[in-house]
Amino acid sequence: MLVHAIPASPTYEFAADVRAGLTKPGQKELPSKYLYDEVGSALFEVISRLPEYGLTRADERLLRRHADEIVDRVPGPVAVAELGSGSGKKTRWVLEALCRRQRTSYYPVEISRSALAMCERELSDIDAVTVVGFEREYLDGLLEVAACRKPGQHLFVLFLGSTIGNFDRPAGAEFLGEVRRILQTGDSLLLGADLEKPAAQLRAAYDDELGVTAAFNLNLLARANRELDADFDLSQFAHVATINARARSVEMHLQSRRRQTVSIPVAEVVVEFFEGETIWTESCHKYSAEEIVRTARNAGFACAAQWIDDQWPFAENLLIAQ
Ligand SMILES: C[S@@+](CC[C@H](N)C(=O)[O-])C[C@H]1O[C@@H](n2cnc3c(N)ncnc32)[C@H](O)[C@@H]1O
Repeated sequence: MLVHAIPASPTYEFAADVRAGLTKPGQKELPSKYLYDEVGSALFEVISRLPEYGLTRADERLLRRHADEIVDRVPGPVAVAELGSGSGKKTRWVLEALCRRQRTSYYPVEISRSALAMCERELSDIDAVTVVGFEREYLDGLLEVAACRKPGQHLFVLFLGSTIGNFDRPAGAEFLGEVRRILQTGDSLLLGADLEKPAAQLRAAYDDELGVTAAFNLNLLARANRELDADFDLSQFAHVATINARARSVEMHLQSRRRQTVSIPVAEVVVEFFEGETIWTESCHKYSAEEIVRTARNAGFACAAQWIDDQWPFAENLLIAQ
């Protein structure tokens, strides 16, 4: 097993994004990709086991129940690439099904080095799978994987866990189009998407009783303290999850509990917060089942099959590049 790891997000990029996001006029923002350092990736693993957060269990149920059918519909031979694999736990079902048919190269593409290491540990015991990790942004990694494909080999791309929902709708559609442009006709994309559900269920999923999601969110400020020498006082910021009905999304914010000034030396910036002001850190857009099919079609994919969980509205979509 070989892991190809080249840092994708050096400190200066983080510093530049923090400076840009916290000095822009109006709503302050930080890109959600920075939630996932070593601590953030570990906290996300805990979130995925919380009773309130049914999303990961729904995704896993669908993969476990339908792995053979999914793999039967994917033209072979294939190499598998996974965008934002996280720990890769659920991916086991797909890889095991695929390995009953062929030896398989699996290429997780991850911005988080620790998630990539978890993924390698998680899946390294499957016979007939070779794991080669790419510590990269999604599309940079996918381009590299596509460049390694052998003649006649299809690519089977996994984008699970409703990570598509972290893009706003136009950006999500654009992202699918970019993925399609990297793929060849006949390649496949397995896209997991969380579906719309009642506000109370969503609020609980993103603001759990134990406070793990709050810790996950606040870790972004702790990361700025660790890596950028910032002096965020974590006790003076609160995790807030709000429903944006118009965008059909849940938004995570960090709300300043008082008027305060934070200095971030490595980003060469001092930031003022007024009481109640928020930093927008993540959005999770929810889809309808038909909308996923339509969005995929506009991006150049045909939906070969869609499976919907019977306990937590979530859709697994097998898309074929046209
Ligand atoms: C919501 S988690 C989902 C993890 C896993 N796929 C699952 O379903 O549980 C998103 C994952 O994508 C990774 N990620 C976020 N932004 C990324 C980017 N721009 N490029 C590559 N990976 C990214 C994170 O490190 C994280 O592991």
